[in-house]
Amino acid sequence: MNDESTAAATAARGGFRTLDRDRLRRLLERERARYVKEHPRSRELAAEAGRSLLAGVPMSWMAKLTGDFPLFFSEARGNRVVDVDGHTYIDFCLGDTGAMTGHSPTVVMAAVRRRAEELGGITTMLPTEDAAAVGAELQRRFGLPYWQFSLTATDANRWVLRMCRMVQRRPYVLVFSECYHGTVDETIIVLGPDGRPRSKPGNVGPQVDPTLTTKVVEFNDVDGLRAALAPRDVACVLMEPWMTNIGIVPAAPGFLEAVRELCDETGTLLINDETHTISAGVGGCTRAFGLRPDVVTIGKAIASGIPMGAYGVTAELAGRILGDPEADLVDQGGVGGTLAGNALSTAAARATLEHVLTEENFARMIACATRYAEGVQRVLDEHRVPWVIVQLGARAEYRFTPTVPRSGNESRAAHDGELEEFMHLYTINRGIFMTPFHNMALMCPDTTAADVDRHTAVFADAVEELYG
Ligand SMILES: Cc1ncc(COP(=O)(O)O)c(C=O)c1O
Repeated sequence: MNDESTAAATAARGGFRTLDRDRLRRLLERERARYVKEHPRSRELAAEAGRSLLAGVPMSWMAKLTGDFPLFFSEARGNRVVDVDGHTYIDFCLGDTGAMTGHSPTVVMAAVRRRAEELGGITTMLPTEDAAAVGAELQRRFGLPYWQFSLTATDANRWVLRMCRMVQRRPYVLVFSECYHGTVDETIIVLGPDGRPRSKPGNVGPQVDPTLTTKVVEFNDVDGLRAALAPRDVACVLMEPWMTNIGIVPAAPGFLEAVRELCDETGTLLINDETHTISAGVGGCTRAFGLRPDVVTIGKAIASGIPMGAYGVTAELAGRILGDPEADLVDQGGVGGTLAGNALSTAAARATLEHVLTEENFARMIACATRYAEGVQRVLDEHRVPWVIVQLGARAEYRFTPTVPRSGNESRAAHDGELEEFMHLYTINRGIFMTPFHNMALMCPDTTAADVDRHTAVFADAVEELYG
């Protein structure tokens, strides 16, 4: 991981190189043209989809993917994706964590087939024995005793925000500026340039102004958090232990301890959203850093991409939730979903936790991410490029700034749309798929050192073309 002293050392060696924007734009045009030329079938399918799908895609954010039209894929297994034009990609996106297990792991597919075909019963409103096995395994990993399932991490977050407000009898929740916890109304808020909270630009039809439901402070700002929690009107803090959705923003030394202390002092509940930070190890940052949240939420990878989310709570909080006389937790009180906790998701989660997201696999995935980060850093050093790379376990991401961002807004300021598009197209055109809207790479159990080295070579060529 780079830091300010590394940046200072680079500056002392003759300073960083300056990016020639005209050159970048010429290169970008070349890569855009190559992308269009080499993906004729994706282009045809995009045109066809445009006749029936809103924005031409099954989910609107796919319209924002790099290139004039999205890549359509035909097959994916392990860490390889094959597109409809027959190109094979080394996949470092892995469904933005949903496929952190690798695509369609054999052991999970066997469990899914057994449940869906052999035994039958995808969803019945009844529990299966897999559910308790998944609960026990999540309990062991995260140290929280009681678990419940949803279909997505978004839902897990939504439901625990409700429960925390209910038992606390407090109106606000608190999040960090530039966080992402899914499409959860209360979290679509940032600190504006004037340092005041405001609805995130582009917030689609908020039912209420989020400044009425939510307090927001900068990540790593202990004083800001202290002031926000002091009136004791915040039910809970919802956070990723390290931010991952605005690039990776590490917690400064002592910050996570300060968050816990301030929550304890003010009677505020603490929720760790481990949906992405599970990359830190089998129990996410909670286990890796010895954290003591009141709630953990998670989703995406825990069932190898079969829809599944989960939340776990302390015994004390479980008692308060179940003992609340005013709450309707079983019918139409605002918590629940017909398909949540279904037999297919829980079968997939059990196989994933028992056989795929294991200690042994994490050790290999993290070693690959270290090799990846070291390779990128070497290239940046050689060319004196003012970018930084940060690793969190099995995930690593570079940002277009020489020092590690300390807050969401600082990381946001490092965004460079042209550079990002260039790096994505350059790598896609050479058989590497990075996480869209990020410069992020995630390793799965199938990722090899050779895959990582291939990325380093392509990354070096891109940087050479930009700065050489
Ligand atoms: C930290 C975090 N929490 C929650 C979510 C929401 O996940 P989903 O869209 O699967 O509900 C995301 C999605 O990126 C996330 O990064």
